[in-house]
Amino acid sequence: MNEVAHIPELDTDPYSAENLVDPYPMHQRMREAGPVVRLKRYDGVVACARHAEVFAVLNDAATFISSAGVGLANFNREAPFRPKSLILEADPPLHTQTRAVLSRILSPKAVLQIRASFAAVAETMVETCIARSAADGQIDGIHDLAQPYPLKVFPDAVGVEDGDRSNLLLYGDLVFNSMGPRNALLAKSAERMAPVTEWIMAHCRREHLRPGGFGDQIYQAADAGEITHEQAPLLVRSFLSAGVDTTINGLGNALYSLAHHPEQYARLHADPTLARPAFEEALRWESTAQTFFRTAARDCDIAGLPIERDTKVLCMLAAANRDPRKWPDPDRFDIERRPSGHMAFGSGIHGCVGQAIARLEGELVLGALARRVKRIEVAGPHTRRLNNTLRALDTLPLRLIAA
Ligand code: HEM
Repeated sequence: MNEVAHIPELDTDPYSAENLVDPYPMHQRMREAGPVVRLKRYDGVVACARHAEVFAVLNDAATFISSAGVGLANFNREAPFRPKSLILEADPPLHTQTRAVLSRILSPKAVLQIRASFAAVAETMVETCIARSAADGQIDGIHDLAQPYPLKVFPDAVGVEDGDRSNLLLYGDLVFNSMGPRNALLAKSAERMAPVTEWIMAHCRREHLRPGGFGDQIYQAADAGEITHEQAPLLVRSFLSAGVDTTINGLGNALYSLAHHPEQYARLHADPTLARPAFEEALRWESTAQTFFRTAARDCDIAGLPIERDTKVLCMLAAANRDPRKWPDPDRFDIERRPSGHMAFGSGIHGCVGQAIARLEGELVLGALARRVKRIEVAGPHTRRLNNTLRALDTLPLRLIAA
């Protein structure tokens, strides 16, 4: 007799304020419920919270596609809020073509070339933070360091002219909120959608980009016929939407993790070469990008359980990063863990194309701190900036004790 395979159904809302503030109890419930669970509140949506299934879905791009949106909205049924990304929300062969161009621009050689200038800014900003902490008794880890650093170095590398770069923050908040439901968070960040989108698209045009920067190199690829000139501004937009808010929160979460684990910071201070693995562990332990979706292109299965065509599949990257099936003692923050195989940058053909830059920024900021700061102390309660996709802090009061 054939038994009908059963997908457990949970009445959990990953987008409730409670779960956004503290997702970890929900992650555990979802992992324990099964390899794939149905979300009662969201019709046609299943979720994977275990590492093995998140990995399997992200590494089968023919079955689990991105072109129907990597958020909750199903673009087969509703129009995207902005023209689709030509890389993130694309499948092969389009994805293969655009990804090749962006991968080349962000190659290891390119990352080596920007290293010195990114390092100089990290050293100066950390120095300024130490002086401010000595003068005022504290700094704000987000507004004084985690935010200004990527907002300076990355748009400079893309070649964005100086000006009101806070538009990049508003745009990032909007893009990542748009991947969730149409809730109050999305409504709030959509309030300034028209002027912010206009600013972003203007800054994606060639005449606004410094010759030789990452943005201009996209146009050079268009000149060489690798992509079209119509595609170029949308690919610059990918850098500006995906390369700022993510890194800001990666750094913010790393500062939070280290400040709350003084014994781990002491190890980093004793050996600043641990800066890179410390950033990596912070990405695993407190994942910036909590979730991304795929859409089933055909009837298929996940872990032997049947999934209907057009089902949205929520990949819980942050839950996979603390799955005890994958990580020993997963809730422990350990900067010497070397968590290879974590999902914080995704996996498979869409795995973060900017991860070398994100790692560079993390290494340089944590390295500069490690060499100059003996202790990082929590100087008051932090506040969160809730977002449907990103784990983000609004404020993080810290005291830096100089070495
Ligand atoms: C800590 C910082 C970062 C995190 C946590 C992060 C996370 C991610 C994740 C999880 C994905 C996979 C999305 C999916 O599978 O649907 C992704 C893709 C992507 N990221 Fe990042 N990212 C970071 C920094 C950056 C930076 C600095 C850039 C730009 C240089 C960037 C550009 C992109 C692009 C263009 C994609 C789409 C790749 C594709 O679809 O092939 N990211 N990122």
